[in-house]
Amino acid sequence: MNLPALTAEEAAELIPHGATIGFSGFTPAGAAKAVPRALAERATRLHKQGLPLQVRTLTGASTGRALDEALAEANAISWRAPYQSSRLVRDKINHEELEFVDLHLSHVPQMVEFGFFGSLDFAVVEAVDVAADGRVYLSTSVGASPTFLKHAEKVIVEVNRAHSPRLMEMHDVRMLPPPPHRGHIPLDHVLSKIGAPYAVVDPRKIVGVVETLESDDVAPFDAPDETSRRIAGHVLKFLLAERQAGRIPAEFLPLQAGVGNIANAVMAELGACPDIPPFTMYSEVFQDALVDLMRAGRLVGASATSLTLSPPQLARVYGDMDFFAPRIVLRPQELSNNPGVIRRLGVISINTVLEMDLTGCANSSHVCGTQMMNGVGGSGDFTRNAYLSIMVAPSIAKGGKISAVVPMVSHCDHNEHSVQVVVTEQGLADLRGLGPLARARRIIENCAHPMYRDYLQRYLESAPPGHIRHNLATCFDLHQNLLRTGHMLPDGK
Ligand code: COA
Repeated sequence: MNLPALTAEEAAELIPHGATIGFSGFTPAGAAKAVPRALAERATRLHKQGLPLQVRTLTGASTGRALDEALAEANAISWRAPYQSSRLVRDKINHEELEFVDLHLSHVPQMVEFGFFGSLDFAVVEAVDVAADGRVYLSTSVGASPTFLKHAEKVIVEVNRAHSPRLMEMHDVRMLPPPPHRGHIPLDHVLSKIGAPYAVVDPRKIVGVVETLESDDVAPFDAPDETSRRIAGHVLKFLLAERQAGRIPAEFLPLQAGVGNIANAVMAELGACPDIPPFTMYSEVFQDALVDLMRAGRLVGASATSLTLSPPQLARVYGDMDFFAPRIVLRPQELSNNPGVIRRLGVISINTVLEMDLTGCANSSHVCGTQMMNGVGGSGDFTRNAYLSIMVAPSIAKGGKISAVVPMVSHCDHNEHSVQVVVTEQGLADLRGLGPLARARRIIENCAHPMYRDYLQRYLESAPPGHIRHNLATCFDLHQNLLRTGHMLPDGK
């Protein structure tokens, strides 16, 4: 069977207004590029003629500029799930111009499979190759693409020749049978392979194959700043002490690190410490710092769902696939973020939050409880199920106008039953075994910035007694001040 070759513009013409599309992409890695860009251009043209073109978009997680940014700029997205990190999409969400559904990333494939979002009209998926019998060799991310390919009514494949065809050596695609017959997932090591190196699609559904040549739009990380280095230092000291005390086995446990510069700094710090044995990762994103750690023999194996590498780091990996391919496994997000597997392997999770409160609840997603930042992403999948769940944040933002430690979080993504350790550059609060009052005192003493400590202390000591001390009349005063004056403590007290 010959697969129909199309240009991106021809493929975009096939997509009607109102369609629900599953795009590949978990971060900019492996995100569809040419077709969404052409769709955005078509939407702009149609909108000028007074004709509608808006689509509902699902992805694995965030994407690159050619997808979220281009479609949002063209006002071509009406509904979006499960995660995004585009400034423009964020603005539209917060201005109620775009409906956004913020989801745990491990849930997405099952929700699509069972039609929680209605039917999936199109899958637009980037691959390194597609065979006439329907085998699709995905590129730098797996994400939810195998599910999109299985359930979409029509499929467009972008074959991106910029990627190494040897990526297939990292892929391990296994689709889970539906509940209640899901059975055991035979994944008992970070590098276990339990599936095939390709995803499968019914070739009769493929309406277009578009050839492309374009790198993933992944920005390099900044060198860690002083704050990130101090946070990383506290995490490292804690993990060393835990291992010393036998609460982490001598061989160590697999690590998960969230997105961003702090996570990158933590990984670099762990890698540089000779007292931490060579370790593994069971995470969702394989990012820049890990290439050097793997090359140096510090990181001996990694499971992820995306290879989110800036072009120079990706080139290093592609240039030495004999070394990297056996050490990295890319899985569907249903497995990279699978709660049962995370619990089984005893993953230590480290994720960044916007704010944390005196009980240990944490907010990853909503500024002042109302303004979407990016979404909860995979942080909930890991935090809830980790052997040790660690939350990190700088103690202040915007030059001190905002405290990351507040009496009560304005939106709760991770509650105190899941969060075990919180860390800022000021220090680390190990909350395990502490009741609410002791937790609150430890967080104020160890993590709050000195300019907010007195306020938080007074709040705690003056709150009415209870299992959890809270004053419901004043618990959001810092947020109210911020909204009213631009500063959580306008008069500095
Ligand atoms: N209130 C208001 N604004 C805050 C804030 C707070 N409590 N804390 C931080 N900010 C602002 C910062 O000032 C910064 O603003 P700017 O963009 O105008 O400079 C912005 O929020 C981002 O902060 P930054 O410190 O640069 O964040 P980051 O890149 O480290 O990302 C999260 C932090 C929480 C947004 C990010 O980690 C995230 O989206 N997490 C949720 C998903 C997740 O954890 N995924 C990984 C799971 S595997």
